[in-house]
Amino acid sequence: MTNHPTVFQKLALIGMLALNSMSPLQAQTDSTAATEEPPAVTEYMGRRVAQTMHWTGASWLVRHKREQEEAGTTMRAKLELKPGMMVCDMGCGNGYHSMPMAKEVAPDGKVYGVEIQDPYFKMLEENAEKLGVTNFVPVHGLIYDPKLPENTLDLILMVDVYHEFSHPEQMLKAMRKALKPDGKLVFIEFRAEDSDVPIKPEHKMSKEQLTKELNANGYKLAKEFDGLPWQHMMWFGKN
Ligand SMILES: C[S@@+](CC[C@H](N)C(=O)[O-])C[C@H]1O[C@@H](n2cnc3c(N)ncnc32)[C@H](O)[C@@H]1O
Repeated sequence: MTNHPTVFQKLALIGMLALNSMSPLQAQTDSTAATEEPPAVTEYMGRRVAQTMHWTGASWLVRHKREQEEAGTTMRAKLELKPGMMVCDMGCGNGYHSMPMAKEVAPDGKVYGVEIQDPYFKMLEENAEKLGVTNFVPVHGLIYDPKLPENTLDLILMVDVYHEFSHPEQMLKAMRKALKPDGKLVFIEFRAEDSDVPIKPEHKMSKEQLTKELNANGYKLAKEFDGLPWQHMMWFGKN
């Protein structure tokens, strides 16, 4: 039996070569980039930046009660995805949202899943294969550079991710470049205003804080949905 690469492997290869290869050659480029890494922030505009959730906690992302606590199906329906759309799941983890979104934008649309933690890429490959998803493009980002193609995306979704950015300004600038002129960033963040939401304070964000940070970085609020059980859902477009 010949060992042909799967569609996922081909897409992954194209994505990695085009965007951020894990080949030895690119590793060289990355190490150069690493020496130029801008300083990380531990506070940003009055809020404490949260530590990145480690991949060993990945089972929490697929916990049994997640749909009940976060209403992911409702959230994704609110995105109004259509076949052909180009979408990014920024900080995609093991692809809990990426895979269903990829099915919605198929066959011509794509979901770029950006992660910074290596072990997630194997999980993403396995999940895509298991679910028959062929239009998911894994992207190995850097903490200050998501390695996305410019002027390409209709939407960049961040579920429980933005408050972890060690380089919020660099990430917001890079995502602004990756969005089409009318593209949107969509933030899903646990509500800081609500003490009943059982999440550590630095992993929550208020509407006021999020809006302040986005306005300072060239974005304006476009839309909100207040119907999720624990989280804000806020769309921002370019100013
Ligand atoms: C709490 S997890 C959420 C995962 C996924 N969005 C979900 O809802 O299932 C946050 C993820 O953001 C990723 N992350 C943090 N900073 C990032 C960055 N600068 N670029 C890409 N991913 C990042 C982390 O590696 C982590 O997997």
